[in-house]
Amino acid sequence: MALYTEKVMDHFRNPRNVGVIENADGVGEVGNAKCGDIMKIYLKIEGDVIADVKFETFGCGSAIASSSMATELIKGKPLSEALALTNKAVAEALDGLPAHKMHCSVLAEEAIKNAIIDYYRKHDLPVSEELLNYECAHGGEEE
Ligand code: FES
Repeated sequence: MALYTEKVMDHFRNPRNVGVIENADGVGEVGNAKCGDIMKIYLKIEGDVIADVKFETFGCGSAIASSSMATELIKGKPLSEALALTNKAVAEALDGLPAHKMHCSVLAEEAIKNAIIDYYRKHDLPVSEELLNYECAHGGEEE
């Protein structure tokens, strides 16, 4: 069996939603200290909905495919759905990632949550305790 699924290869070769949103409502940046990869997610939020999302990823193919798929999964969706997106769901949507590449999908989940936290803070909106706990647990760079 090939190491990477067709979907991973497709999103790696033709990533969706690459770029920057000027004056984004929320920006989330995360890195993995071990591999050195960095992912940045930009959100445009209208009402309670993610009107637009873009990403910049400096990292491996799985990280690029994960960012691309994650942005597709949250575009046009309410914030609650984006907050509920797990790295496992991103990996499943890609028809799977090799075990040693699962951490690449974690970056996507973290970057999205951080971007939403950034949005809440910039707009003086309350950040739920659950999200604050998540931020504490995932705030630093992973070992
Ligand atoms: Fe670290 Fe993919 S190898 S994000």
